[in-house]
Amino acid sequence: MAGNWKMFKTPAQTKDFFAAFLPLVAESKHCEIAICPPFVNIAAAVDAAKGSRVGVGAQNLYWKNEGAFTGEISGPMIKASGAEWVIIGHSERRQFFGETDATVLERTKAALAAGLKPIVCVGEMLAEREANQTDAVLTTQFNGGIAALSPEEFAQIVIAYEPVWAIGTGKVATPDMAADAHRTIRGLVNAKYGADAASKVRILYGGSVKPDNVKGLMAQPEIDGALVGGASLEAASFASIVNF
Ligand code: PGA
Repeated sequence: MAGNWKMFKTPAQTKDFFAAFLPLVAESKHCEIAICPPFVNIAAAVDAAKGSRVGVGAQNLYWKNEGAFTGEISGPMIKASGAEWVIIGHSERRQFFGETDATVLERTKAALAAGLKPIVCVGEMLAEREANQTDAVLTTQFNGGIAALSPEEFAQIVIAYEPVWAIGTGKVATPDMAADAHRTIRGLVNAKYGADAASKVRILYGGSVKPDNVKGLMAQPEIDGALVGGASLEAASFASIVNF
């Protein structure tokens, strides 16, 4: 269960969140929990999460380790700041910041090389779903990106299926719709990496996951967890998602 805070909260607000959140998930041993705050809050989050089961993640990384790349942050820097996870290829990065399947692959490799666990996002836009292109889009994103990982690399990633039309809109994919897309992704994994990899890879659903719809989504055996945006900003609401 991963929270993507996007561009929200300051270090002080991060500290307050953890103070409220940790007691609510202290007994939640059924899943891994991660919070992905903005870069500037990673240190505060790592400090606040110390001794708990909650991991911290970044929301992006650049694929070079260091250099003249103003404004960028590298995998080794994120790792050294104490984070374990990194979200890669979020649709907001694809839509607003020019992320492509090729750069998703570069970032995923760099994250793995730095010892971070990538959460790689895929998903279709509304017009693509309406044109029955969902499977084709997922196939292109998979084959043009993470399918170039070695089997050893692939075994370390988590995939997040995030239909773009469901993100921040309150329009959640029905559990059946999400499960269908997850089956498509698992089929792609099976074709490329084999049945064992397909059964082991964790596929999270993301897009308007809330306390009141998480149970139905998680009832689908295809759905291994959730990547939560808006509802992860408030401790009680994210805790109730974790404890679905
Ligand atoms: P949302 O965002 O839960 O606010 O829809 C999900 C995401 O973008 O990861």
